[in-house]
Amino acid sequence: MKHLVNMGKITAAITGVQGYVPEHILTNDDLAEIVDTSNEWILSRTGIEERRIMKDGASSDMAAAAVSQLLEKKGIDPLDIDLVICGTVTPDYPFPSTSNVVCDKVGMKNAWGYDVIAACSGFIYSLATGAQFIETGKYKKVLVIGVDKMSSIIDYQDRTTCVIFGDGAGVVLLEPNEEGLGVLDFILKADGAGRNYLIQPAGGSANPPTHQTIEDRLHYVKQEGKQVFKFAVTNMAEVSAEIMEKNNLSSDDVDWLVPHQANLRIIDATANRMGLPKEKVMINIQKYGNTTAGTLPLCLWDYESQLKKGDTLILSAFGGGFTWGAIYLKWAYNS
Ligand code: UT7
Repeated sequence: MKHLVNMGKITAAITGVQGYVPEHILTNDDLAEIVDTSNEWILSRTGIEERRIMKDGASSDMAAAAVSQLLEKKGIDPLDIDLVICGTVTPDYPFPSTSNVVCDKVGMKNAWGYDVIAACSGFIYSLATGAQFIETGKYKKVLVIGVDKMSSIIDYQDRTTCVIFGDGAGVVLLEPNEEGLGVLDFILKADGAGRNYLIQPAGGSANPPTHQTIEDRLHYVKQEGKQVFKFAVTNMAEVSAEIMEKNNLSSDDVDWLVPHQANLRIIDATANRMGLPKEKVMINIQKYGNTTAGTLPLCLWDYESQLKKGDTLILSAFGGGFTWGAIYLKWAYNS
């Protein structure tokens, strides 16, 4: 194993991962019947072929399904979970938190938790935060969830956004590790000056719900795609290269890039900047689209069987806020 620099120190290792996606599939051809688009346009501009849509239920239902399956697979009693952090921009309610709801649905009666709003960076923000509680020795079992029911805030009359997003959830379990495995470094960034480029304008305290806000369709996601694309390409690539340089990692040292799944062209630009070949890049955008906070844990879930103990992973994301960042971690188990 390379770069075992943290021997003896407690690090937060991912010791399990589970995803959940709803059964209903919405294909590009289905969308072409609703708005003026085509399979060819969507596929060539984004890499997306289909996405999942949650017909009944809320974000907490997807998250609770993923958590229950993870605990069952690991043989862990829900009462043993200390903390649940949930990255989401589609909480069940403005309050209480989705984390609270998930704890109740799964019977995690000894856990507390909260939601993290960081749009597409929700999972990396939550993972970096959750890792602190393990590293300090405070907790032994922390769940980090990324979940979004994007279909609840997407305007299916707006072809510039409805083709991109989908629904899904993923969760990882964090436990203490003393072999130098787990989360080793992170760089997280934000720039609120970018807020108007990707925003759900109404429903919060700036524009509380009124008949007018509903009529003006302001409760749906609004995105200036071209602008967001420009910032995403530059910043996701830069921060990924920055975390490699900071940790003296060459492209040979990196086994996997786990990129936010917003657009295949953004993923390619990031991989190129890092000098990584396609084989080292996790991609599942073709089947789920952009599930916002769900993309990264869903990638880890899909690729879990290919990951080996000691593998070096760089997780990287960019999203609304703007928010972005990268996490350097070492995978802690063979499945
Ligand atoms: O995950 C959080 C962060 N979000 C992102 O990272 C998303 C970043 N942005 C993107 O991925 C891309 O900008 C999009 C996929 C949203 C759009 O792709 P684009 O290549 O930037 O297209 P564009 O906005 O420049 O639009 C090009 C053309 C326009 O037509 P005109 O003005 O050239 O005649 C659009 O009206 O494509 C048109 N268009 C569409 N055509 C068919 C826009 N959406 C569609 C569509 N189907 N769904």
